Amino acid sequence: MPDADSIFETGDIFADRELVRVGHVPELDRVVGRDDEVKAVGGALGPATEGGPPETTIIYGKTGTGKSLVARCVTREAHRTATENGYSLQYAYVDCSDYQTETQASREMARGLQTNLHEDAVTENIPRKGIGAPDYRDITWELLDQNDVQSFVVILDEIDKLDGEDLLRSLSRARESGKSEAFIGVICISNKIAYRDRLNERVDSSLQDNELVFDPYDADQLRNILDHRRDAFEDGVLEDGVIPKTAALAAREHGDARKAVDTLYEAGRLAEKEGAATVTEAHVDDALRQAEINRFQKLVSGQPPHVKYILRALALLTESNDQTAFRTAEVYEAYQRVAERLDADPLSYDRVQRLLNEQAFLGITESEYTGGGPGEGSYRIHRLLRDADVVVEAIDGQ
Ligand SMILES: Nc1ncnc2c1ncn2[C@@H]1O[C@H](COP(=O)(O)OP(=O)(O)O)[C@@H](O)[C@H]1O
Ligand SMILES: [Mg+2]
Repeated sequence: MPDADSIFETGDIFADRELVRVGHVPELDRVVGRDDEVKAVGGALGPATEGGPPETTIIYGKTGTGKSLVARCVTREAHRTATENGYSLQYAYVDCSDYQTETQASREMARGLQTNLHEDAVTENIPRKGIGAPDYRDITWELLDQNDVQSFVVILDEIDKLDGEDLLRSLSRARESGKSEAFIGVICISNKIAYRDRLNERVDSSLQDNELVFDPYDADQLRNILDHRRDAFEDGVLEDGVIPKTAALAAREHGDARKAVDTLYEAGRLAEKEGAATVTEAHVDDALRQAEINRFQKLVSGQPPHVKYILRALALLTESNDQTAFRTAEVYEAYQRVAERLDADPLSYDRVQRLLNEQAFLGITESEYTGGGPGEGSYRIHRLLRDADVVVEAIDGQ
């Protein structure tokens, strides 16, 4: 029986692992490389720090480009500044991918406001269910007025997931329709640029003034972001090449800061698990490979066993040949061998052909028609989109 100290042993890799955890919202001084965006959102909220009306802002950009972070950090800072100035600026954050219906989102807004109001504020009991979206909005207006809130900022994150228009509409009209005394501003965030047209129809055209697009990060920016999380690790634990390598790979693949921070965390965890003294570039490679295996596993989980045999056959062919693409007939032959080795009755050729086409459709493999030489006609070839060893490990690990 291990003693209590040794079961909870955490090693000497991390000094403050919270800094590299997904979901952690750092303070504004750890937000790097988004100065213009921070200023733009700050400018929109500026009037509200002096008791005036916040302007509505719309933010677009791919995932991991800092949209949620900038919106939350700047809003939190605006709240603090307003308080220092002697005004009441309150806010609520609603992630519409978690609260997709009008009722859920409106309830979350009321609940968020209530939580953010100071402890001695007048609060109401917000029912969990049994009332509708307009009721939750009425509770919100009441909370604002009972607590003499002058400005209210609502962040509607991933607003393209919200299934209606009423919340946004009522937020933009609450004051003019006399429902609330407070000035109300909204920060709308969407990962989809294509959502712009729909949003433009929804909101007043004057709101388009504050439209921001966040671009994917480049390697320098990612390196800077990761450098600011260095103190997540104990002194001297991160080898020199680790952050530049993580940043360079992330910039090349996606420019997503969340994934880059997560890779750094996973590399640290692997080093910790091994009982290593330092985090090396090899740990970064392993972390990325493991992430790829996990993603592939998710992609094929729930697929019938024979699909896994087919993918395994394709992986075996890829590993033992110079080429990467194989004819249906070649895959079928290899598949039969895999199935027989596992004592499974092979499916018919037609069935396997259909399953193969389905995999290409799902983006698990790639397939194309290619012309053979004269007299050969055209035929279909299939190739894996990931390294063969990733595929094998993902399938075997299930
Ligand atoms: N400019 C930045 N400075 C520091 N960390 C950042 C920055 N941008 C993103 N991050 C990190 O990446 C994570 C994901 O960013 P987030 O704002 O949630 O992206 P988005 O909302 O665009 O998908 C954040 O929680 C934060 O840890
Ligand atoms: Mg986000």
